[in-house]
Amino acid sequence: MNNALMTKLIKNYTELDVKYHTNIDNSYHSLVNFSQTKNSPIHRWFYYQEGYSPDLVIHIFDHLGITHKKNTFVFDPFAGSGTTLLVSKQMGFDSYGFEINPFSSYMIKLKTRNYSASDLMEYKNFVVSEDKKIDNVYKKYELKIIKNLFDEDRLIDIEVIKVSIRNVKNSKVRDLLYGALLCILTTISNYRKGGNGLKRKKVNKNMDVFTEFYKKKDEIYADLNKVRHYEKEPNIVNDSCLNINNYDVKNIGISLFSPPYANCFDPFEVYKIELWVGEFVNSYEDLKAKRRQALTSNLNANLKKEFDEVHRTNLLSKILQILSNAELWDKRIIKMLDTYFFDMYCLLKEIYLRTKKSGYCVIVVGNSSYANTPVATDLILAELGEKVGFTVKEIIVGRTNETSSQQHLKIGDLKEYIRESLVVLQKGKQKYCL
Ligand SMILES: C[S@@+](CC[C@H](N)C(=O)[O-])C[C@H]1O[C@@H](n2cnc3c(N)ncnc32)[C@H](O)[C@@H]1O
Repeated sequence: MNNALMTKLIKNYTELDVKYHTNIDNSYHSLVNFSQTKNSPIHRWFYYQEGYSPDLVIHIFDHLGITHKKNTFVFDPFAGSGTTLLVSKQMGFDSYGFEINPFSSYMIKLKTRNYSASDLMEYKNFVVSEDKKIDNVYKKYELKIIKNLFDEDRLIDIEVIKVSIRNVKNSKVRDLLYGALLCILTTISNYRKGGNGLKRKKVNKNMDVFTEFYKKKDEIYADLNKVRHYEKEPNIVNDSCLNINNYDVKNIGISLFSPPYANCFDPFEVYKIELWVGEFVNSYEDLKAKRRQALTSNLNANLKKEFDEVHRTNLLSKILQILSNAELWDKRIIKMLDTYFFDMYCLLKEIYLRTKKSGYCVIVVGNSSYANTPVATDLILAELGEKVGFTVKEIIVGRTNETSSQQHLKIGDLKEYIRESLVVLQKGKQKYCL
């Protein structure tokens, strides 16, 4: 980036930080990611690397003084592993969420369901009948890399467990057992999640599929037996939140969510094992269709969308202009970013209409960087929030990403904008609600 443009961008970022009361709050440092969740009952069943900590939900409700359960309806358009919905339920709030990934939305349902004592007893007593014969196991899958992902004997064991689970009549118990199996698929695979996809790992040849399944099953049982909740189950929709118009979402007290970051990370790539072997997708066509419905945050999403420039704030236009003259590793990144902010603008408009007077919309988001130019997603989303009618209460910076010294030299003064923040929007008291 040339110096004049750099100076202009710094000025723009600094002015917006002042306008939006940006403040650093280190108490959010470890809450904006999933690492603290390893020991939290239920949340811990499956490691969801894009998730935030359950304590973040408690912290932000506390910060905004949200205690009135009867009148506060919680909304999460990008539910992921279900952190917002599960914590809301546990705190006694009614909630509603969208999640486009069918595996993730299945897991949220399992985590937020109410189970009776007899459901749990039946679940606890389940044993796999291991005498089934499975032939040509690889043939079942269209997935090209299935032979790399699982050795044949392991995949046969997985299929044997599936057959036994399918024979369980009680659907709640059956679903929960299937969930236990889904949670161990990556553990027993030859691959692990890494970067923007899967990476070959060192495999423990002694690991036994049945033992891992029973271990996970017991963990799930222990959690559900300890944390018994009978509050209302959240409404979870496996569809794009951009289709919100087809659903009855209204009177939102607070939306608390983290959209996919505009960083080219494709969640459908990372959850390939669970999607295919969990039989949520059965063909490449099917996978492609699902990917195209996701928010345009990566290059596998729908980049052909046509739209006008209603969402283009000055800052966004400036960034797009800088990037169009920069050396990007893929020129389609510009269209991706433009579509990302268009999608977010449309969503915020819908959320605004459905939010009660004085209600909140809190977006947890990480900024990205292309061609050594930080893209301040938090500031752009604050601008878009304002454009649709919200007031920007503040931007809380939870974490500044430490850059390497080499990166620091290139990004220089803009490095502080590589950060994870909470954009806090509020609807005015007198404003219209659906
Ligand atoms: C950053 S993650 C959310 C993590 C979540 N806050 C948690 O704690 O688990 C974003 C999620 O949005 C989902 N997603 C992407 N596009 C979507 C869309 N158009 N509608 C609904 N969900 C979508 C992704 O599958 C991903 O699970």
